[in-house]
Amino acid sequence: MGQTMREQFYQLVEARKSIRKFKKDEVPHEVIERILGAALHAPSGKNRQNWKFFVVQGKKRDDYLKYSQKSWLGIKDLLQARLKPSLYEFTERFFFTLGDAPVLIFAYSNNSPDERYHTSIGSVYMAVQNINLACVAEGLGCCTMGAPLEIKKEVDEFLGVTELEEYKKGELELLCGVVLGYPDHEPPKAKRQTEGRITWLK
Ligand SMILES: Cc1cc2nc3c(=O)[nH]c(=O)nc-3n(C[C@H](O)[C@H](O)[C@H](O)COP(=O)(O)O)c2cc1C
Repeated sequence: MGQTMREQFYQLVEARKSIRKFKKDEVPHEVIERILGAALHAPSGKNRQNWKFFVVQGKKRDDYLKYSQKSWLGIKDLLQARLKPSLYEFTERFFFTLGDAPVLIFAYSNNSPDERYHTSIGSVYMAVQNINLACVAEGLGCCTMGAPLEIKKEVDEFLGVTELEEYKKGELELLCGVVLGYPDHEPPKAKRQTEGRITWLK
């Protein structure tokens, strides 16, 4: 890897941050396809590539807002205790509008019995990280969201996942949502913690 490519890689990784306010501009279909293409390049346990993505746009995306609002109910008390009031209000508005993000991606794992549970879900989160980084490369912003897990079953039904054979066998599990679009704010970079995170052994 040449100097420039290495520098660009670390710049891209460091530029990534969660975006929660978006322009209403549509994201071209080919851009979404490229981002999902990056997801498919992630490593996976036994190379099972056990991810499944559901891309939600247009009216279906608007219909999801009421689910997002419902997911807020499950976490708002916890956040009220942790966040300062202005950030709490911003977060509440984000859950009610999804920051106007035009695209939602829901990531599922196929947890078949021939692989360990944590290896299955870990593989999917690696693909989700590729989505996060591809967004930066495309000039897009995104926010990975665990909030849909508060209302997992309802999201499964909303997306039609409950009709799939893998779901009926109990093998498909929602892991997160990702909201994405063109950024309409520039939040400060969240401080990185280093203490106690890395142990070197020789
Ligand atoms: C698995 C996962 C779940 C998350 N769930 C939410 C969420 O439900 N709502 C939200 O606003 N942000 C969510 N985030 C974003 C984190 O809050 C964010 O990554 C963290 O604060 C660090 O900020 P940064 O992404 O800007 O570096 C989630 C991130 C991850 C990786």
